[in-house]
Amino acid sequence: MGKKRILSGMRPTDKLHLGNYEGALKNWVALQDEYEIFAMIADWHVLTTEHLGIPNLNDLIREVTIDYLAAGLDPKKCTIFVQSDVKEHAELHLLFSMITPTPWLIRNPTVKEQARDLGLIEKDEEITSINYGLLGYPVLQAADILIYKADAVPVGEDQVPHIELTRQIARRFNYLYRKEVFPEPEALLTKVARLPGLDGKKMSKSQGNVIYLSDSPNDIREKIKTMFTDPLKVYRTDPGDPEVRGCPAFAYHKIYNTSETEQIEADCKQAKLGCVDCKQLLAERLVEALRPIRDKRTEIKREPWLVDEALRKGTKKAKKIARDTMNEVRDVMGLRH
Ligand code: TRP
Repeated sequence: MGKKRILSGMRPTDKLHLGNYEGALKNWVALQDEYEIFAMIADWHVLTTEHLGIPNLNDLIREVTIDYLAAGLDPKKCTIFVQSDVKEHAELHLLFSMITPTPWLIRNPTVKEQARDLGLIEKDEEITSINYGLLGYPVLQAADILIYKADAVPVGEDQVPHIELTRQIARRFNYLYRKEVFPEPEALLTKVARLPGLDGKKMSKSQGNVIYLSDSPNDIREKIKTMFTDPLKVYRTDPGDPEVRGCPAFAYHKIYNTSETEQIEADCKQAKLGCVDCKQLLAERLVEALRPIRDKRTEIKREPWLVDEALRKGTKKAKKIARDTMNEVRDVMGLRH
């Protein structure tokens, strides 16, 4: 029995930030010995929300690849590739679109929320007015996953409806064409401490509250200085309550400074520790915690062929499997090769 296979991916809308790392990438790295990992860069998926594309998409694809490698994905163990380099995903997406009832898509809560966030629909409006590509986002995602016959997909809560749809499409395909071509992949829910952005809201490029894996020590120090803290602790002499009042800096201490967390909470509550000092301490811990990733990044930037090599190898392997699956799919559907 070989290793089970995992596929996951991220949209290269930006360089990767701490939220991407803690919420996903770190987990992929931890799983790479136990599973055969396919780590994709979902560039076509970017167009579902930014159909004019983003001007520096190619640079971003490269930066995200470097982030994958710097975070510890080992190209000897896992398959790193760009979605649009394996055109078979598009063919499978097309064929899946023939057997996917629109109601399955219209009720997808994650797509609905995306459309709402982008201001494409009103709060309670149905998603009938969005582009077909965004409506079909999870169908393309199903093709991404099923073309490799992945057993599992590590994702956060918001992606669960997409994995459920993937399972439904797999089931329907196997039933309609009378052959067990696709396994039903499982969602591997990533349990993570919520990592807020600098302002305590969800970390996201559009909010400008992001810490990047590629930030320099001084970027990190400057950003942490601006971080929100317990809103009721205005002066050093005000006692804080970081846990109860959701202090973002404290949330970070709990991840990056575990050994001092207890002391920090006690000192904050007793007004012995001010927010400026607390954040300075945090910044140094964070600079330390991200050092291995930063060093690896520098190393890779000095040897850029490492990136090309990883992608070349990854694409070759992904293509081979995707081609085999498509041959099987065309056979059972009675289509030409
Ligand atoms: N929708 C995923 C996200 O927003 C990105 C993605 C595209 C993906 N295709 C995938 C994730 C396949 C897992 C599997 O993060």
